[in-house]
Amino acid sequence: MHTTHSDLIITTHDAAGLAEHLDLVLDTYAEVYATEIATDPFFSLPRYQDRLSAYASRAGFALALGYVGDELAGYVLGFRLPEGSGWWSGLQDEVDPEMLIEDGMRTVAICEIMVKEKYRRRGYARRLHDTFLHDRTEERATLLVDPINSPARSAYRSWGWQRIGGVRPFPDSPLYDGMLLDLPTRH
Ligand SMILES: CC(C)(COP(=O)(O)OP(=O)(O)OC[C@H]1O[C@@H](n2cnc3c(N)ncnc32)[C@H](O)[C@@H]1OP(=O)(O)O)[C@@H](O)C(=O)NCCC(=O)NCCS
Repeated sequence: MHTTHSDLIITTHDAAGLAEHLDLVLDTYAEVYATEIATDPFFSLPRYQDRLSAYASRAGFALALGYVGDELAGYVLGFRLPEGSGWWSGLQDEVDPEMLIEDGMRTVAICEIMVKEKYRRRGYARRLHDTFLHDRTEERATLLVDPINSPARSAYRSWGWQRIGGVRPFPDSPLYDGMLLDLPTRH
C-alpha cells in the first residue's frame, strides 16, 4: 500500500518487506541512535538486528516506511502480542490485572518509531503512527518509552496515549514507561 502526505510517501510491509528493506532500516536506526550505539551495548546494531528478527517472526508484524524522495526519513514497526505474552512481565507497578490480559487478538505493540533528525517536527512521526495503526484489527496499542525521552513522551501524550506503569522488558534495558492507546474504531 502507498500513502502520500505532501512530500512524505509511506509504504507498508510485512516481514518479507523488512528483509527486503533491511539495509535502509538499519542505516536509519544507526543514524537516529548513533549516541546510544556508541555508549550502550543494548543499542548495538547486532542486538538491534536480533530484536528485529524476533519482532518480524511474530504474527501481525507490520512495518511502515516513510520516504522523502529516495531517502528513508523514518519508520514504525510492530506486531500483535500473542496469547499469554511476556510483554507485561517486566511491569514494576501494580495495575488492574485485567489490563494485562493478552488473548492473542487484543493488542498491537509498536516496537520502533523513529524519524531522522533533519526531518523532525514536520508531523512525519504522527503520519507514520497513524498509517501503521489505521488498518489494525486489535482493540488497543502499546509501546514503551524512556521517561527521559521528552520529544517522544510529548508526542504520545498529544496523540492520546496513557501511561500504565514502569516496564523493564530485558534485564539490561532501560526502565521504560509502558503506554496504552485505545483503538476506538475497532470496539
Ligand atoms: C519521537 C520522534 C519519532 C518524533 O518524530 P517527529 O517526526 O519529529 O514527530 P512529529 O513531527 O510527528 O511531532 C509530533 C509531536 O511530538 C511532539 N514533539 C516532537 N518533537 C518534540 C520535541 N523535540 N520537543 C517537544 N515535543 C516534541 C510535539 O507534540 C509534536 O507536535 P507539534 O510539532 O505539532 O508540536 C523523533 O523525535 C525521533 O525519531 N526520536 C528518536 C527516536 C525515538 O526516540 N523514538 C521514540 C522511541 S519510544
